[in-house]
Amino acid sequence: MIEKIKQYQKEFESRIATVGPGEELRQLRTDFLGKKGLVTQVMKNMRELSSDQKREVGRHVNELKNWIESQLNEKAEGLKGPSETAGGSTFDTTLPGRKEARGSLHPITQVMEEIIAVFVSLGFQVAEGPEVESDYYNFEALNIPKDHPARDMQDTFYIGGDKVLRTHTSPVQIRVMEKQQPPLRIIAPGKVYRCDSDISHTPMFHQIEGLMVDQGVAFSDLKGVMNIFVHQIFGEKTKVRFRPSFFPFTCPSAEVDIQCVMCSGKGCRVCSQSGWLEILGAGMVDPAVFGFVHYDPEKWTGFAFGMGIERIAMLKYGINDIRLFFENDLRFLQQF
Ligand code: PHE
Repeated sequence: MIEKIKQYQKEFESRIATVGPGEELRQLRTDFLGKKGLVTQVMKNMRELSSDQKREVGRHVNELKNWIESQLNEKAEGLKGPSETAGGSTFDTTLPGRKEARGSLHPITQVMEEIIAVFVSLGFQVAEGPEVESDYYNFEALNIPKDHPARDMQDTFYIGGDKVLRTHTSPVQIRVMEKQQPPLRIIAPGKVYRCDSDISHTPMFHQIEGLMVDQGVAFSDLKGVMNIFVHQIFGEKTKVRFRPSFFPFTCPSAEVDIQCVMCSGKGCRVCSQSGWLEILGAGMVDPAVFGFVHYDPEKWTGFAFGMGIERIAMLKYGINDIRLFFENDLRFLQQF
């Protein structure tokens, strides 16, 4: 019997060396310690032995039993993966963990910050004004008379009294000039509102206004600043063009075009075969506007410009529908 015990020990030793977790391990325990297990069998057979033999064999069997018990427990501990504790289904502990999703700035915010950085590097300071604006700042002081088409109900959200949702960031020009004396260089980023909605218009969008007033500021300064801006945002090689235009608050006025970013000026669908894309309105501050803020137009001259951020962002990233910016689709937003 002692021989048998030694043989079982060897057998157990070789099996536990290669045993796997879960069912395999349970089976090994049953095979040795279960009701019909090998060790249990030996104990049952001991009944036939003399009491001396019983004592001798009993000691060996008990030792073997305890040893197997501790071996099994040790093994179970060693084989215990997260699967044993987390519900039993097996999973690969070598797989990398799930990363936490990180947010990022909205593309409009990114482009806005980029543009602001360009003008800050040129000495412009950031100014802000209210989105709920009075008729006076949004129109009157900008030399937009009562019968001007820009006041048409179709464009402007009138919200009662003399209040409107500002239709552009130009009223910030007036607010700054009322408070500060020249020389000044400011940019005013912010939300603006127009009653308009299609593939290239949303009722709310963003603009950046620029204003520089000093002695001897000329149209050439406007051109220089616009060139720097375009080259920084769209690349050094992008050509800039000024086209005569009209705004009630600037004279002369111009619209600034850049060479089409899609076809490099060859002509394509995006630029309607013209090779050029309009990006902003600009001009020399109209003396009438200086009149509203009591600046002496004989002493001071200035330029102003205003651009839509969504439009710049669309051209920069080749986006063909402005509404994508406001749908909060992560598949779109995560690309920036
Ligand atoms: N405010 C004008 C617009 O929204 C843009 C502009 C600003 C034009 C400053 C000239 C000077 O269209």
